[in-house]
Amino acid sequence: MISKCLFPAAGYGTRFLPATKAIPKEMLPVNTKPLIQYGVEEAIQAGCNTMAIVTGRGKRAIEDHFDISYELEHQLKSAKKEHLLKDIREIIDNSSFTYIRQNEMKGLGHAILTGERLIGKESFGVILADDLCINTGLSVLAQMVKLYAKYKCSIVAIQEVEVENLNKYGVICGKEIESDIFEISNMIEKPEPKDAPSNLAVIGRYILTPDIFEILRDTLPDKKGEIQITDALNKQAQEKRVLAYKFKGVRYDCGSIEGFVKANVDLFNSL
Ligand code: G1P
Repeated sequence: MISKCLFPAAGYGTRFLPATKAIPKEMLPVNTKPLIQYGVEEAIQAGCNTMAIVTGRGKRAIEDHFDISYELEHQLKSAKKEHLLKDIREIIDNSSFTYIRQNEMKGLGHAILTGERLIGKESFGVILADDLCINTGLSVLAQMVKLYAKYKCSIVAIQEVEVENLNKYGVICGKEIESDIFEISNMIEKPEPKDAPSNLAVIGRYILTPDIFEILRDTLPDKKGEIQITDALNKQAQEKRVLAYKFKGVRYDCGSIEGFVKANVDLFNSL
């Protein structure tokens, strides 16, 4: 039902410099797998077959990763090690990868709007690869697709966050209409703790209905010159219904060194 998933992947990854000087931050590995591959596997589990990746300068490694490497496959075959590429080859064979460049960094809303030509007029998923979500059961996006089947509206994933960290997130306010499902009445991007409407923070998983593009086109940049998806979703929530879903699973903030190291250690220990 949701066949396309958008991956904003144009950011510089400054927190990981110098590692990200020549390597996209989405290609940083948690154990042996790049962050973006976890995201793509999550999208596939949610039923998506088309990955719409919004890239920027210096991101070619992402395109190469999701393409066949004949020479390497040939080498591995003679060494009887072809199993090492089995998973990624299966992904490549069963999904389409489309790309568009975001020439200027003008915020997450702008990145999503840049992806409009890859999405068209259908509802779609969004995965921020540096929010790594691990589940034993259904992936977070798959849980959200199930919810979308019932409500047919935009949905954001949320989790409870300590008050002092709320200024790193979009924060929602809403009424719980079912267990763990909130109808959003207000959303604020990175509020000061004293202005935060709740302790429910948006993490990097969204299902968006295509009218979001029209709203994004009319959304003014914030003080930093960035167009925020939070502002567009807040407008959508005022006009119609937008839901927030407290997902099941563990999320690692792999945009921070601490979260990235924790993900590596936890996933290594669970191997
Ligand atoms: C973005 C969004 C924010 C959301 C966060 C989740 O912020 O703007 O609303 O809570 O992702 O990771 P960023 O982390 O890109 O600054």
